[in-house]
Amino acid sequence: MVMSTASKGLEGVVAAETELSFIDGVKGVLEYVGIEIDDLARNSTFEEVVFLLWNKRLPSQGELNSFTSELRGQYEISDTVLSRIKDLPTSAQPMHALRTMISYLALEDSDPNSTKPEEVQRKALGILAKAPAIVAAFDRHRRGEKFIPPDTSLSFAANFLKMLNGKAPTETMERAFDVCMILHADHGLNASTFTARVIISTLSDIYSTMTGAIGALRGPLHGGANEGVMVMLNEISSVAAAEDYVMGKMTRKEKIMGFGHRVYKAYDPRATYLKTLAEQLAKDTGNSDLYEKSHAVEQVMEREVAAKGIYPNVDFYSATTYHCIGLELDLFTPMFALSRISGWAGHGLEQLEANRLIRPTAEYTGPHGVAYVPIGQR
Ligand code: SDX
Repeated sequence: MVMSTASKGLEGVVAAETELSFIDGVKGVLEYVGIEIDDLARNSTFEEVVFLLWNKRLPSQGELNSFTSELRGQYEISDTVLSRIKDLPTSAQPMHALRTMISYLALEDSDPNSTKPEEVQRKALGILAKAPAIVAAFDRHRRGEKFIPPDTSLSFAANFLKMLNGKAPTETMERAFDVCMILHADHGLNASTFTARVIISTLSDIYSTMTGAIGALRGPLHGGANEGVMVMLNEISSVAAAEDYVMGKMTRKEKIMGFGHRVYKAYDPRATYLKTLAEQLAKDTGNSDLYEKSHAVEQVMEREVAAKGIYPNVDFYSATTYHCIGLELDLFTPMFALSRISGWAGHGLEQLEANRLIRPTAEYTGPHGVAYVPIGQR
């Protein structure tokens, strides 16, 4: 039996160089273009982080002002896109609706296939700017409520929450959502970003790139985990029941959503930040039981599997945070996508800087010399 040299899940394979985000999985460090994620979460805004990822440097005040107004100038979705959203089945899942409508945006672009970097960045800005309206419009459509148009006087975070809820968010909620957007923007060669790089490496268009990446992100092993965490927290009847619940899943060899990571074998630094945010928001919104249940799950997992390098990842406390901000459970992964559109675009632009078609090999482990047997003799 020939031992395969293929790395399962490409674990440990270096498939690209990047200057966008640095991860130290042992120390639990994440940097965007060299700036620690904690500094960015405390001091930056999502708009500034997008500029950072797309230009590989922080903007001056003037640059940030013009980038922000360019983004806000693209918030609007066309009447055609809005009417297509209203044609979607109200039973559709928001991630499928988002993937479908991001793909639809290509049909409204007179030059959708351009891969000139400045063109790709302009198109990516449009996709990023419109994605919140698409998610909010679909959610209101399925609830039988009127569409609320974007408000270009508001930040990315506030505009989304106003289109979703019909009123501008409190400063606390706007800031919490903005921090979530910062924390989810980029993360090395994760599955959806790798998907994005593969697609754009064929010189395909940015709409196809985003559509494929959204498809990869939806999976419960990746961006879909935040929804899985909320399902788990709802299944745990009380804080006291957390121990038996977790031990039961472990005994059945079922994965605990929101824990473990291909790269982090320490606490995900984003989870550290989100834990603090979740605790504060849970207290402010009367959801302390949710936070307490999460904390109880974490304590059991720490005792059982921390030694194996399994810690909370970005999804574990983002679930409680999104719930406290007032988001429906099946909107959690679309939130991840709203933010990661910026990382996918950053990697797409980086791939185009020195592109080579991404095409690994597979090790053939099947038979050779097999005769073709005519169907009548099989
Ligand atoms: C994200 O890559 C990124 O950067 C992704 C991300 C980003 O920002 O883009 O950080 C976002 O996707 C975070 C991860 C969200 N997914 C989940 O929370 C789903 C639950 N986690 C697992 O499915 C798992 O940890 C993965 C998929 C995240 C990573 O899996 P690996 O690296 O393939 O590890 P593995 O499945 O081979 O597990 C190794 C061991 C196994 O035990 P043994 O069979 O060796 O005894 O660890 C165990 C696993 O059973 N294990 C878990 C576990 N995760 C791993 N056991 C219980 N619960 C878990 N969550």
